[in-house]
Amino acid sequence: MSDAPLRKNTPALDAFWMPFTANRQFKAAPRMLVAAHGMHYTADDGRQVLDGTAGLWCVNAGHGRRGIAQAVERQLNSLDFAPTFQMGHPIAFEFAEALAEIAPGGPAAGLDRVFFTGSGSESVDTALKIALAYQRAIGQGTRTRLIGRERGYHGVGFGGISVGGIVSNRRAFPQIPGTDHLRHTHDPARNAFTKGQPEHGADLADDLDRLVALHGAETIAACIVEPVAGSTGVLIPPKGYLERLRAACDRHGILLIFDEVISGFGRLGAPFATDFFGVVPDLVTTAKGLTNGTIPMGAVFAKRSVHDALMQGPDGIELFHGYTYSGHPVACAAGLATLEVYREEGLLTRAADLADDWAAAIHDLRGRARVTDIRTIGLIAGIELESRPDAPGKRAYEVFVDCFERGLLIRVTGDIIALSPPLILERAQIGEIVGILGDAIDRVA
Ligand SMILES: Cc1ncc(COP(=O)(O)O)c(C=O)c1O
Repeated sequence: MSDAPLRKNTPALDAFWMPFTANRQFKAAPRMLVAAHGMHYTADDGRQVLDGTAGLWCVNAGHGRRGIAQAVERQLNSLDFAPTFQMGHPIAFEFAEALAEIAPGGPAAGLDRVFFTGSGSESVDTALKIALAYQRAIGQGTRTRLIGRERGYHGVGFGGISVGGIVSNRRAFPQIPGTDHLRHTHDPARNAFTKGQPEHGADLADDLDRLVALHGAETIAACIVEPVAGSTGVLIPPKGYLERLRAACDRHGILLIFDEVISGFGRLGAPFATDFFGVVPDLVTTAKGLTNGTIPMGAVFAKRSVHDALMQGPDGIELFHGYTYSGHPVACAAGLATLEVYREEGLLTRAADLADDWAAAIHDLRGRARVTDIRTIGLIAGIELESRPDAPGKRAYEVFVDCFERGLLIRVTGDIIALSPPLILERAQIGEIVGILGDAIDRVA
């Protein structure tokens, strides 16, 4: 338990326009979290709630880590803010070097140049812009098209929603011109109830050839995918799919971007999905686990060759891009302390030890009423429920509310339940998660 005093749920609820929330429904029956420690939140009525989602896939080392809090406090007391436009401060360079040491794919991959942002959405837009600037710098200025994938989630910037593939995030907004999408890889008819990577669907990567045939390779700058799609409801890449996509990008001079905002920092049992799958992209976007969710921050890892192509020409600003908070000293302090916790406790590979027990326990939910598919990899699970014909999403929402009332936080997208607990999860807690969730599924069915 945190020693911070609990704040009662007394504030007026009108002013805060909540993100990705059914505001009116929530405010009629609010669910408030007031403290957190380790694997648990404390609700405003004092109940302990097991965190089945690491916050929003970000609190990989669990809550209330003292080392991170102390590093943040020290940094605030020494250098609270300093600009990184034409100025520097040591901790930003120190953190970038520390990240370069554990960069996706290891030293051979050369993904060791780091651009700091303030969030996952900013990391995505940054990576897309770096890709465009790179193509221009190497004399491929006609390559302005960006390829995403159906059901992809890449945050909420205009770049991110344009390459993203979730219709509700796009419907009300115009998108940037010149994008197209690969088909998604979800194939429950052939791959339902798979542990790890599904057998069928590697050939879907050939969609890139189809888009090249349609648009011309000379118009395409980059292709961005989540190695494991999270927000759309846990879609795991079929065996061979990422390898085939990498080969297609190479054939056509297209940069490959992995959006590792949720798969980065240990979620799969390796430091990054790039390491886990052994497929090396040209750019990697990260955020969330970068600072254990404590201080908002993102980072884009770029191949040295991509970076170096932009370090040519006359002296002057090479990339007209950056954020006030790129390399924020307090976020860097949080990030360095987070890496220290990951290292000391072996958290970047801990999911590999738990993955088999996790998968076995979650797949035990097969056979429960209305469960149509279960997918697991690393410390991730997706459990798909049959939708009610008249009310898609309602069944999973009711499971979510039931779980919360009984002490478990899960996340739902449509009628898919997603689980992604902190990587400090104990084996006994796997049983607790499955117990509460299974009962909730039964009750709601
Ligand atoms: C794969 C992916 N990319 C980008 C984002 C956006 O990150 P943020 O909400 O920090 O902007 C998310 C958030 O869930 C994500 O899952």
